[in-house]
Amino acid sequence: MITLALSKGRIFEETLPLLKAAGIEVLEDPETSRKLILPTNQPGVRVVLVRATDVPTYVEYGGADLGVTGKDTLLEHGGQGLYQPLDLRIAKCRMSVAVRADFDYASAVRQGSRLAVATKYTTIAREFFATKGVHVDLIKLYGSMELAPLTGLADAIVDLVSTGNTLKANQLVEVERIMDISSRLVVNQASLKLKQAPIRAIIDAFAGALSES
Ligand code: PRP
Repeated sequence: MITLALSKGRIFEETLPLLKAAGIEVLEDPETSRKLILPTNQPGVRVVLVRATDVPTYVEYGGADLGVTGKDTLLEHGGQGLYQPLDLRIAKCRMSVAVRADFDYASAVRQGSRLAVATKYTTIAREFFATKGVHVDLIKLYGSMELAPLTGLADAIVDLVSTGNTLKANQLVEVERIMDISSRLVVNQASLKLKQAPIRAIIDAFAGALSES
């Protein structure tokens, strides 16, 4: 049995065409089914639905043989024990720094001020500001980051930006782009050895579909 870990939403939706290229069709819709293990048209392949941040953990410990996860999640996890054969170029967005429109970020940085930064992505934020030589106090949040500068909890946030609509709706402005984000295929290293042929077939089919797009 080959088990693929996916998260609901954009990653699930955008992985479906790649699965199709590998001859795999998921037989239930996660938006209507409450099942966490979804069968496919191939008796030897199943999909498990996990929280986006849990995908690398499932694959690392062999709860799934392979998974699809954002570069953001992978960097926060650390990537240990994971083979990362492909950038799938799906679920694209960017990791950025944003502040209230009335906060002068450039001059705060120039003056060497200590910044309070709220984020779910503490590893990425720590590394980014350390490289810039900016002193920060990181405040770990699990969601609704946009609220932090509006309530005085933080000067800035580090968060994912896609259309920019969430920032705009909360009167925040993007002041730095840290990195582009897309989703990666990750594979358990033991699975790759023990189930080499079927896993290679999936990797090759995904790679083929990507080269055509
Ligand atoms: C992300 C991110 C922003 C939003 C940005 O949240 O945290 O809130 O999307 O998208 P936009 O630029 O198109 O408005 P997501 O919906 O992934 O959920 P999360 O809050 O659980 O991270």
